[in-house]
Amino acid sequence: MNEKEIVINFQEFKSLEELNAEDRELAGAALDAMRNAYAPYSHFHVGAAVRMSNGQIVRGANQENAAFPSGLCAERTAMFAASAKYPDRDMTSLALAGGVHGRLTDRPATPCGACRQVMAQYQTKAGKPMSVIMIGASKIWKFEKVDDILPLIFNSI
Ligand code: THU
Repeated sequence: MNEKEIVINFQEFKSLEELNAEDRELAGAALDAMRNAYAPYSHFHVGAAVRMSNGQIVRGANQENAAFPSGLCAERTAMFAASAKYPDRDMTSLALAGGVHGRLTDRPATPCGACRQVMAQYQTKAGKPMSVIMIGASKIWKFEKVDDILPLIFNSI
């Protein structure tokens, strides 16, 4: 038997100003997209923004429904919109931000497992890493690839 270890590396920034220009723009789009959340049940407003291989940014926000499972997270809203509109382009990075009644959480909001799986699939489709940026009021986390937030990705079929 061998002990194995999975190591996750990520960067922590103190403010948006510390990000490079591209990431700052994407983060700004995710923060802005929080305003488009429809969250009458949880009141947790999430915004997401996906950057495409040609530099274009597609936004999404969580959409809730009285039949709870019918709603959708901001990240999947953004990724599905991006893929539906630009099926031939790769997604190079995704940023997200969230908070109750639109007030940004202090600690960065982290994507749910289902959104991570969808990110993983689009990363596999692209054949190159998709970075993930999680924005909080007091810190920002950047992961260089989806594998870092979803180790042992399922992509076997
Ligand atoms: N939500 C997202 O939009 N993204 C996530 O990664 C986790 C949760 C939304 C779903 C629901 O509308 C609200 O946040 C509370 O769970």
